[in-house]
Amino acid sequence: MSGAEPEVAELPSVMRTRGWADYGLVDSGHGRKLERYGRFSVVRPEPQCLWTPALPAARWDAADAVFDPTDEEDAGRWKLKGPAAGLGNGETWPLSWRDVKFHGRFTSFRHLAFFPEQAANWEFLDAAVRAAAGAGGGQPKVLNLFGYTGVASLVMAAAGAAVTHVDASKRAVGWARENAELSGLSDRPIRWITEDARKYVQRETRRGSTYEGIILDPPKYGRGPDGEVWRLFEDLPELTRLCAGLLSDNAKFLVLNAYAERISGAALSGLLAEALKGRGGRIEWGELALEQEDGARAIGMSFFARWQR
Ligand SMILES: C[S@@+](CC[C@H](N)C(=O)[O-])C[C@H]1O[C@@H](n2cnc3c(N)ncnc32)[C@H](O)[C@@H]1O
Repeated sequence: MSGAEPEVAELPSVMRTRGWADYGLVDSGHGRKLERYGRFSVVRPEPQCLWTPALPAARWDAADAVFDPTDEEDAGRWKLKGPAAGLGNGETWPLSWRDVKFHGRFTSFRHLAFFPEQAANWEFLDAAVRAAAGAGGGQPKVLNLFGYTGVASLVMAAAGAAVTHVDASKRAVGWARENAELSGLSDRPIRWITEDARKYVQRETRRGSTYEGIILDPPKYGRGPDGEVWRLFEDLPELTRLCAGLLSDNAKFLVLNAYAERISGAALSGLLAEALKGRGGRIEWGELALEQEDGARAIGMSFFARWQR
């Protein structure tokens, strides 16, 4: 520990994802967004897009997949046409970000089995792991909690980290392992753990394990495999404190991300600053945004705070 308080950025940062070969925010407006996921164009509800779309209606009507929400939450149904309609139930198609490959899927929760705005975090994690490994850190040990389909885990593994990936859902961990195979990273040191994130961290704390980097992207509400209830506002403070306690003396980063409506980057930075008292380093905070391909607009998607040293 350095003894100094972490320096907290005075202003928020907007980490914009501009799209890449396999993803783009093509247009937005009238409460919806038009995106490209590899070979498919997709329309999804996005109530914050209060403006008028730039592209003609015909471009939107030509989309391969439209998500039809059934309620205020994320559930609903996909209407597929053209080649997308030819996909069998649960069938996937390959996507990639840099060297990491993963499957696109039309999930019943309106997303495509990964979150494109997370590319800003992947970029950060990639650089942070490479810097840690390059600074004589050997193979940095990193932890990805609530890791879902594992893109962040694979980005860190590809950058040279020994990764522990934790998620409550057996199915999500299965998909993450498939993504590792697709990426040619099955032989990398990645531990795939299906467990309640809090229970896992409590156990690691008792064992005295340490990590050089941790990322956590908890949902607002979730359940562990044995029905353990996760509530963001009640449970994040304690989990963050425990995660801070798992950081090694040589630790390089701790990244918090959250999608809940009543959270903010400023709030997450306050939590991190308290949990990391005496560790020095710097805390950046703000939001992750998707930028339209024409550069005309960006949509705020989630909030983050990250400590780095
Ligand atoms: C918002 S997603 C995380 C997205 C992921 N970080 C990414 O970028 O792809 C939430 C994940 O948390 C998992 N989850 C929910 N409750 C959990 C719990 N109590 N312990 C561990 N994982 C949990 C879900 O299974 C889901 O995969």
